[in-house]
Amino acid sequence: MDGLYGLRHIKHMTRLATAIGSFPLNNPVICGSGEPVMTEAGIRAALRAGAAGGIAKSVNENPAGGRQLDKADYVRLDALGYPTSEQGVSLFNRSGLSQRDTADWFASIATIDNDARMDGAFVAASIVYAGADGAVELASLARHAGLRVLELNVGAPHASEAAPGAIVQETDPARLTALVRRVRAATQGMQLWIKLTGLSSNLPGLALAAREGGADAVCMMGRFMGLVPDLTTFAPLLGTSAAYGGGWALPIVCRFLALTRKAAGASFPLMGTNGVRSGEDVLRMALCGASAVEVLSATMSEGFSAISRMILELNSFLTERNMNFRELIGRAADGLAGYAEQPDLPGRWRDFVPPETISDADTSL
Ligand SMILES: Cc1cc2nc3c(=O)[nH]c(=O)nc-3n(C[C@H](O)[C@H](O)[C@H](O)COP(=O)(O)O)c2cc1C
Repeated sequence: MDGLYGLRHIKHMTRLATAIGSFPLNNPVICGSGEPVMTEAGIRAALRAGAAGGIAKSVNENPAGGRQLDKADYVRLDALGYPTSEQGVSLFNRSGLSQRDTADWFASIATIDNDARMDGAFVAASIVYAGADGAVELASLARHAGLRVLELNVGAPHASEAAPGAIVQETDPARLTALVRRVRAATQGMQLWIKLTGLSSNLPGLALAAREGGADAVCMMGRFMGLVPDLTTFAPLLGTSAAYGGGWALPIVCRFLALTRKAAGASFPLMGTNGVRSGEDVLRMALCGASAVEVLSATMSEGFSAISRMILELNSFLTERNMNFRELIGRAADGLAGYAEQPDLPGRWRDFVPPETISDADTSL
């Protein structure tokens, strides 16, 4: 048996089939980039669990990015943002980049990608860039290694806190178009996916800018940055600001997916990331326009079997309703209305205030 439910079993769940543009996927659950897929063994485990593909742990050209991994630290937080020794609902951490030699790493993941291709799966190279020249250089290396997919992360949340020059975050649409255009030129024939930041409110504008530069798809949105004051030490937990993500982020991502679909049209492929914890969550992002999702934190708290579980949950949901995944993509996004279009609900606010607010003594109401 592969993984919890088995890759072969999952491969035959045909109602889960989806695609990123012309790139077909067996199902919409991709294992996102991060420490769990920083080794070949981790990537193979994600694929065995049934993931449609895996985005290998990111690299960049600046050794400071790799050195930052030695300063990485992680804590789980409960629903109110307090540290917990349980699974928690949020992960709060600072991370770093892979310390592997890039050419060696890309060659190695290309071998896994080649094996995965037989099963209709894939392994992507990922770059968290430190500068445009470096991004182009690494993109060329990925292409020469024979990889089919490159994800360029232009929004790693750690950019502001990392050593100067180690990580760049791009929030300017014109600069993003120029960057993507250069990377596109170095990745002809590959899928080029751009992962956008969670720290800008202009996700639709950035998605359009990435498309303008020649991206095949965008993934949104990176995690947020937070600071958790520690009530034992009165100092910042982990000593720094750090990236903060959890299931609570999903509605925020969903809104940006829907707004981006509206701006870019249904034919431009979107992927969702940040907050998916179940098969139902995969579907919620799909309803807002995501053709697939990238999940990571769930594998850190639960193991790679989280991927199998989500796929199975999604399949059950769709089987019970005799539906296919693809027919649901964008349904909620396309029904998104403005406030002014809503029916009047006079006095509805009264149900949400303390009784004193509307006491008989106040005649102004
Ligand atoms: C510990 C950790 C390390 C990560 N490292 C990377 C990375 O190297 N490159 C990248 O593009 N995203 C990275 N991510 C972001 C994840 O791929 C994913 O987009 C994010 O965690 C949101 O999804 P989730 O809620 O399923 O975790 C990292 C996330 C975590 C938690």
